Amino acid sequence: MSSIGLPSSEVLLLGPGPSPVSPRVREALGAPARSHLDPEFMALLDDVRARLGRVFRAPDGSLTSAISGTGTSGMETVVANLTEPGMCALVVVTGYFGERLAQMFERYGAAVERLQVEWGTAVDPEVVAHALRDGQFNVVGLVHVETSTGVVNPVAAIAALARQHDALCVLDAVTSLGAMPLDAAAMGVDAAYSCSQKGLGAPSGLAPVMFAPTALARRVKSRSFYFDLDLLESYWVGRKYHHTMSAPLVFALHTALCETEEEGLDARWRRHERHHQQFVDGLASRGWSLLPAPAARAWSLNAVRIPAGADDAAVRRRLLTEHRIEIGAGLGPLAGKVWRVGLMGAGSTEGNVQAVLNALQEATR
Ligand SMILES: Cc1ncc(COP(=O)(O)O)c(C=O)c1O
Repeated sequence: MSSIGLPSSEVLLLGPGPSPVSPRVREALGAPARSHLDPEFMALLDDVRARLGRVFRAPDGSLTSAISGTGTSGMETVVANLTEPGMCALVVVTGYFGERLAQMFERYGAAVERLQVEWGTAVDPEVVAHALRDGQFNVVGLVHVETSTGVVNPVAAIAALARQHDALCVLDAVTSLGAMPLDAAAMGVDAAYSCSQKGLGAPSGLAPVMFAPTALARRVKSRSFYFDLDLLESYWVGRKYHHTMSAPLVFALHTALCETEEEGLDARWRRHERHHQQFVDGLASRGWSLLPAPAARAWSLNAVRIPAGADDAAVRRRLLTEHRIEIGAGLGPLAGKVWRVGLMGAGSTEGNVQAVLNALQEATR
């Protein structure tokens, strides 16, 4: 008989996601079961839709919902419903997830021009303006917080440029929603996708999406059945079966959205900023620093330069086994160069900042 079973001890999730869930969100996962077409459950979906509209600060008339799947399913839903073969997409690639977005557009038949930006820096809107002047694009794709580098990109400036050139602005808000200032209406974002497991503080498995009226007007016939917005709308709004949505995940996301709105979006953003700054100050007092320049730093994800002489994998292993804290490794060209420390959702606390600073100090001694 195998002795493998469910985890019985806590690990503090301070990596690039998932983030820790609050006791209330954890409890919601065990609420009494409902089917995907149960009237009470459908009413809950209506409320999730409304709350997501407010959390994205979506323009009036937007369609918001949560896709069954992780952040990538949100990415695929947005791309599948806005891309036809022959279309042209300009994708700003500031790291690993910008490249994934570029590949997603290619899979749906778009001709993609990648605007490559050095990892660890934010895109300069001037460079985007230049690329837009030289081409004819239907869409501009951008990652708000690039999780591979801890960089925040200037969304409003890029969205304004896209609009000037009659292109839609598609935003990856996977590591920003609920953690970093995002106001889709004010910023001019046409479509966005996120995840449940980072700034919002729910488990992974649902991907919030937002289509503004400007994007809805340009939707195409989706080549994906599962991510077809027409079919998804007929389920979420028309109450017609499309797929068997997971009630426990919706219960958890709904609770996380309630917590987000109870705290208040602005207060939540300020909390993330405060704890990011405490972390940066704590690093500085130990002679350590982040990869991005101060103006380009995200508050949700910190890319810490690995100090000279420290053994990347051994430090992460010690954090996990001795301190029960998970942090993330560097991705792609940043492997072995940075640790990724997420302070997101319920994980963004003063106590967690102190815990991870102390653990890093001990594990690098
Ligand atoms: C910016 C960004 N986009 C997309 C994704 C993909 O999300 P998921 O792993 O939930 O599919 C991630 C995952 O961390 C991400 O950080």
